[in-house]
Amino acid sequence: MSVTLLEGDCREIIPTLTQKFQCVFSDPPYGVKWSRKNLNYNIASRIENFIPGYCEVKKEEYAQFSIEWIGALKQVIDKTAPIYTMTGWNNKRHILNAIDALKFKQWGEIIWQYNFGVYKKSNYIDAHQTILYYSLKKPKFYDFCRFSTHKDSYHDRENVWHINRVQRKRGEPKTAPMAPEELIEKCLMYSTLPGDWVLDPFAGTGTVAAVCKRIGRNCVCIEKNPNFIPHIKARLGISNQ
Ligand SMILES: C[S@@+](CC[C@H](N)C(=O)[O-])C[C@H]1O[C@@H](n2cnc3c(N)ncnc32)[C@H](O)[C@@H]1O
Repeated sequence: MSVTLLEGDCREIIPTLTQKFQCVFSDPPYGVKWSRKNLNYNIASRIENFIPGYCEVKKEEYAQFSIEWIGALKQVIDKTAPIYTMTGWNNKRHILNAIDALKFKQWGEIIWQYNFGVYKKSNYIDAHQTILYYSLKKPKFYDFCRFSTHKDSYHDRENVWHINRVQRKRGEPKTAPMAPEELIEKCLMYSTLPGDWVLDPFAGTGTVAAVCKRIGRNCVCIEKNPNFIPHIKARLGISNQ
């Protein structure tokens, strides 16, 4: 199995890839701006072991940004390759508009419900994210993982999954908000077979690649923030040579 980490802007790197992918799992930046975000998302300089440089997208640029990175995928995916895209409610409409404009078809969405939200005094507390599920042509769906008697099999017939958020231990580096491995693993189990190729355009801490390595999928992941690269390499066991 091969895991490749590429440093740079995914909108520039994706068009250079020669590999065809059977699945994309993407967790783009949120494009949100509110006063407590830095603290809530572990990207504030006053947090212990903070790694700076998280690359955000301005709210006013989010629609065009979505068109550019989702559009770039068209050249490197199988027509039946499912694309999973994590999003909050804030910029979901821009991603959905891009999906429509680029002639992808949405097949559904998963709701990831988590154990604690970002506290807001005068609004509902967000305690879920949406994972959009779309492709160019009807994607393969390996539902046998749902019915297997294997101890690790999944029994989630519905699309609302309760999974705890990742809690960093004391002393661990603070980088981007990490997606839970369990969430990504479920999606990949339903949508890929061992040996398939998975693309992650927004690697963050390298969670998608770490899952791929563990369950035997090939992976290419891309991250723009150079400060995260050593952390991802360490997690994936990639040497600097
Ligand atoms: C929400 S985080 C991904 C977190 C990841 N799922 C994890 O579990 O660690 C989004 C990441 O995309 C990176 N990023 C932002 N714009 C990018 C771009 N144009 N190309 C590649 N990476 C980008 C950010 O620096 C950030 O690390």
